[in-house]
Amino acid sequence: MLILAIETSCDDTGCAIVEDGRKVIVNNIVSQIEKHQEFGGVKPSVAKQAHLDVIDKLIEQTLKDANLTIEKIDAIAVTLGPGLVISLLVGFNKAKELAKKYNKKLIGVNHLFGHICSNYLESDLEPPFTCLLASGGHTQVINVKTFTDYEIIGTSLDDACGEAFDKVGRLLGLPYPGGPHLETLAINGNIKAFELPIGKVGNYDFSFSGLKTAVLRLIEKLPPDYNKSDLAATFQDNVTNTLLKKVCKAAKDHNSNKIVIAGGVSANKTLRKKLMDTEFQVFMPGLKYCTDNAAMIGSAGYFLRDIPQDLETMDVFARDPSSIKLKTASRAAL
Ligand code: KG4
Ligand code: ZN
Repeated sequence: MLILAIETSCDDTGCAIVEDGRKVIVNNIVSQIEKHQEFGGVKPSVAKQAHLDVIDKLIEQTLKDANLTIEKIDAIAVTLGPGLVISLLVGFNKAKELAKKYNKKLIGVNHLFGHICSNYLESDLEPPFTCLLASGGHTQVINVKTFTDYEIIGTSLDDACGEAFDKVGRLLGLPYPGGPHLETLAINGNIKAFELPIGKVGNYDFSFSGLKTAVLRLIEKLPPDYNKSDLAATFQDNVTNTLLKKVCKAAKDHNSNKIVIAGGVSANKTLRKKLMDTEFQVFMPGLKYCTDNAAMIGSAGYFLRDIPQDLETMDVFARDPSSIKLKTASRAAL
C-alpha cells in the first residue's frame, strides 16, 4: 500500500511516500528554521506563509522523485495535530483537496502517534514496547500495546524536554532550536563542573522548569567568561539521566524488555548511548526520522488504514486529545 503523507504541524513542511508502513520511498522536508531564528522561536504567521509557499511544489517534487503519479497512490495521510493550527490547516486543506480530486482515502494522524511510528520505518520492530517520546512540545512515557493501541503513562507537568533544551540553549546564547547546538557545545564539557537539581515528580512524570530556572540563577551568579561547554554538558547529563531513569522504571514495571525512543530529543547522542548501555533491547529511529518528518506520518497512516474515521467531522487540533480519555481506537487518529 502506497501512502502519500503530508506534515505541516510546526516549522517544517514535509511530504513523503511510504510503502506498507515501513519502506520509505521518498522523504522530503523543507525546513523553515532560518526564517524563525531572528524571533528565537517559531512565529506562527511566518510558518503558515512558508508552508503555503512550498507545499504544492513539494508534493509535485515528491511524486517526481518516486517516479509515480498521484493515480498510483492508495491513500493520503495528513497530520491533524497537535501543533500550530494555522500551519496544520495548510497541510490538511491540501490533503483534503487532493483526496477529493483524485478520489483517495484520507487518513488523519496524531503527530505524536506519528513519532512513535517513526520507529517502524526501515525496521522490523513490533509492539508491545515502552516508548519515551521527547519532542519540543511533549515528554511522554507510553505503553505501546499494539500497532494502534497505546496508553500514555507519564507526561511532562510543565516544560517539555525539547523546550528545556531550547530555553537553556537561549540562556547559553545559542541559536534556535537549542537542542542540537547544545549537544555540540557539550561535547568537550565536564559533566561534574556544576551542580544542578533533579526534577522530583512521581511515577513516570517529568518536570523540567525547575532545572531551567536553576540554570538561569546559576548563570546570574557566574562570571561572564564561565565555561559554557561545562554547563551545557552538566545540563544534558542531568536531563538524559532523568529520561533514562523514568523510561527504564516504566519498562521494568510493565515487564517490558523493549525500550523505544522518539521525537526530536531522541536524536541526542548522549541519550542514545546511555540507553544502549542498559540491559533493555533498544530501538531508536534513524537520525532523520527523529525530528519532524512526513515519513513517520505515512507509516502511521498505514497502521491506521482500517480504523474508521469520520471525514465530515475530521479537523485539525492544537492540543493532544490523547491526554483526554478517548476510546483507544480513535486515539491514534485524533
Ligand atoms: O519532534 P520535533 O522535531 O518537533 C516537535 O514535535 O516538537 O522536536 C524538536 C525538539 C526541539 O526542542 C529541539 O531542540 C530538540 O527536539 N532536539 C534536540 C536534538 N535535536 C533536536 N534536543 C537535544 N539534542 C538533540 N540532538
Ligand atoms: Zn514532532
